Amino acid sequence: MTNRPRSENTYSKGHPKKRNQLKSYYSALKTLISEALYLSKTYAPVDVFYSLFSTFHQRRDLPRKYRTKSDAFEQTKLGLTLSNDWFSSNIPFWLFVIDKYGLQSGDVKVLEIGSWEGLSSYFILYEMPSAHLTCVDTWEGADEHKDGTADSATIFSQIEQNFDKNLSSFSYRLSKHKGTSLSFFTKSNIRNHYDFVYIDGSHHCDDVLLDAIKSFEMLKVGGIMVFDDYL
Ligand SMILES: C[S@@+](CC[C@H](N)C(=O)[O-])C[C@H]1O[C@@H](n2cnc3c(N)ncnc32)[C@H](O)[C@@H]1O
Repeated sequence: MTNRPRSENTYSKGHPKKRNQLKSYYSALKTLISEALYLSKTYAPVDVFYSLFSTFHQRRDLPRKYRTKSDAFEQTKLGLTLSNDWFSSNIPFWLFVIDKYGLQSGDVKVLEIGSWEGLSSYFILYEMPSAHLTCVDTWEGADEHKDGTADSATIFSQIEQNFDKNLSSFSYRLSKHKGTSLSFFTKSNIRNHYDFVYIDGSHHCDDVLLDAIKSFEMLKVGGIMVFDDYL
């Protein structure tokens, strides 16, 4: 019997690379189980479970597939003024959706409820170069940000200034509505208008329900609606 050298792609279970792959697989599986439990606790419809399970491998592979593009955006992000980043972990999934629905081109109308310092807004305008984006935000934060001190007012005016600064190079493709999403829906009574809606404003369930129903009326038939923090 000859002693064949092991090929570079052959790993035993004890190989560190193989061990890391197994570890990341088990951690993704653990997340999947806790997400499924959450869905069952909240009486999610069967097709939501189906999507969760049927896209498990795809979701696990997307960060690798879009690594180069995500890294490139990370570099661009360094030029922005940000105090928080709630968005970057979503980037591979958004890139997949942009690719799948061909949103890089064409006159795409986007509505974003909840913009903060404009990181997700910047990403939308950067990755969808022909899109027009409407941003709706109170620039007063959520309840947990409001403690009523003079300081919090100063902080929020800074957050809005950061938004204005971060988005200044895209001002010709941007509309800004300062106020609650309810005030926006009341003022702009349009239907069947947006191709893409991103809901990331207030996380109170009645506000989210309102945002979902009213934005759905504004969404074109066949349009795309994305919720942050669904789980
Ligand atoms: C999580 S942050 C948005 C983050 C942003 N999409 C990103 O990824 O960078 C939520 C934002 O929703 C805004 N907000 C909270 N309640 C709102 C409401 N009722 N109407 C509009 N905006 C609201 C807050 O001011 C805050 O800027």
